[in-house]
Amino acid sequence: MNILVIGGGGREHTIIKKLKENPRVSKVYALPGNGGIAADAECVDIGAKDIPAIVDFAKCHAVDFAVVAPDDPLALGCVDRLHEAGIPCFGPCAKAARIESSKVFSKSLMKKYGIPTADYAVFNDPKTALEYLKTVQYPTVVKADGLALGKGVLIPQTYAEAEAAVKAIMEDKVFGASGNEIVIEEFLTGPEVSVLAFTDGTAIAPMVSSMDHKRAGDGDTGPNTGGMGTIAPNPCYTPEIAQRCMKAIFQPTLAAMRAEGCPFKGCLYFGLMLTDDGPKVIEYNCRFGDPETQVVLPLLKTDLLTVMQAVENETLAELNVEWRPGAAACVILASGGYPVSYEKGKVITLPETLPSNVTLYHAGDRLENSRLVTSGGRVLGVTATASTLKEALADAYAAAGTIRFEDVFMRHDIGRRALAVMEEQ
Ligand code: AMP
Ligand code: GLY
Repeated sequence: MNILVIGGGGREHTIIKKLKENPRVSKVYALPGNGGIAADAECVDIGAKDIPAIVDFAKCHAVDFAVVAPDDPLALGCVDRLHEAGIPCFGPCAKAARIESSKVFSKSLMKKYGIPTADYAVFNDPKTALEYLKTVQYPTVVKADGLALGKGVLIPQTYAEAEAAVKAIMEDKVFGASGNEIVIEEFLTGPEVSVLAFTDGTAIAPMVSSMDHKRAGDGDTGPNTGGMGTIAPNPCYTPEIAQRCMKAIFQPTLAAMRAEGCPFKGCLYFGLMLTDDGPKVIEYNCRFGDPETQVVLPLLKTDLLTVMQAVENETLAELNVEWRPGAAACVILASGGYPVSYEKGKVITLPETLPSNVTLYHAGDRLENSRLVTSGGRVLGVTATASTLKEALADAYAAAGTIRFEDVFMRHDIGRRALAVMEEQ
């Protein structure tokens, strides 16, 4: 089978490696892929947002199945266009992708269908927003409506900070048109859990839970990033909480999307906060998380292509999606200065061999005269699987320490909070 994967980060590399475990997969194309992905797939220089070129490519190369991984092409209707061209694929249509691409849509969906989330209000002019901000408790949460590379959420501690946030989003348009509308919501507290789930619109198979580490620095300090490391499973997500989420959040979300005429097919990502009032939705993503995928998919026992085809064919209920016992940890190696400003083009030196339980997922590199050089903020994800989280972390960090490029940095405390939770349990 010829498979096409849209995207070019660590998440896509993980998906590609997993798909290749299936002997029916004879060829994988990555659009655009990256330097490390080139060892596992044929990378083609077509951007993930160039929908007409993607569809043309798929038609000309006898693609049997496509996986659209990033949020932008999903919001732009890549799956809709591929389906029109007769190409089976994994991912939601544009209408369903609004669950991520419009916070106004997702918040009103949750309100209408009684799905637990933070209380909120929507504003499309800065003046009324500022009036409202005089009445709320601090900290509060200000979110741009649209996609903003994961940076569209601000948490002002004071009215003055809130004023600056509204000005930046609605007047200075730091997130472009994404800031035409904003959501202002109640600040919630509690442990955060990421739950990715396969769904065909009706049936749902939640994946093992995970925990991201979004801040750049140790001890959750510094600016927000795309994610500096992950662990799975998340010890805060007990079987009892999982059951509660299934009943109060997962099933109602799928039913709501069906009732709105846009059943969600693909990977639905639930960003949850376990508050004293029970689990609440912080955000939905219409895709696999990055770097959550790097710890979740290595624990998938069932063949990934089979699961993705069951989602596309709406036969997921007939499939028993199984997971391996044990744990996984992923440590991200980033370019010095990320996420603010960083240099590219640094030569990467990899060890000759790695232990069999360690995998490198390439996120931001490219080939230059057949050498790997850095080309992004997050460069590599080092994932280890083991029977316990402690061992997985030790192995991931040991391997991460053998990789070199100028100004490399990583967090040194990935999984520390999870280990502390496990000790208390
Ligand atoms: P997002 O970009 O939507 O993933 O949000 C980034 C981070 O902001 C989340 O992972 C949370 O830590 C935080 N956040 C978002 N909404 C809230 C909220 N209502 N209360 C507290 N923290 C929040
Ligand atoms: N790691 C968070 C995300 O993929 O949105």
